[in-house]
Amino acid sequence: MTGPESEGSQVRRAVCPGSFDPITNGHLDIIARASRLYDEVYVAVMINKSKKGLFEIDERIDLIRTVTADYANVRVEAFHGLLVDFCKQREIPAIVKGLRAVSDFDYELQMAQMNNGLTGVETLFVPTNPTYSFLSSSLVKEVAQWGGDISHLVPAPVLEALNKRLHRD
Ligand code: PNS
Repeated sequence: MTGPESEGSQVRRAVCPGSFDPITNGHLDIIARASRLYDEVYVAVMINKSKKGLFEIDERIDLIRTVTADYANVRVEAFHGLLVDFCKQREIPAIVKGLRAVSDFDYELQMAQMNNGLTGVETLFVPTNPTYSFLSSSLVKEVAQWGGDISHLVPAPVLEALNKRLHRD
């Protein structure tokens, strides 16, 4: 026998990695779809010390845990280091990423090929729901900062956290 079964692991695991500063409906859609395809889905909040976010890592994790509470097979963790090491330590053979548009593809392809070359981990691309094809955490923050309506783009707890952080309500 070859493949994961011969290595003693029959649990199909995947990771959805990102900065999640903060999580949007676009992220949540990809996580929900991954949770239907895999037995266990890790959401990895990757720590980038050179990039100061709007939310602390613990705040991002709390928000993601709140909005994924209905998905029993989703777990959320922070990680400082290479994504491939996160995967190796947890026996995760697959990275699941959303692709919003062709413009995402160049960089995503580079990362997928680099990661595959490092440890053999595979990257699976899921086409983003067209409703969210323009959506990013940065745009959400910018629009929210100037009082634009983003209530249809982020889950309610995230909207509340953004309003508190940006407008000190
Ligand atoms: O939400 P983002 O910021 O677009 O996510 C990018 C992320 C965090 C998935 C990517 O930068 C990453 O995997 N960082 C971890 C460090 C790493 O493994 N770098 C090598 C990538 S080939």
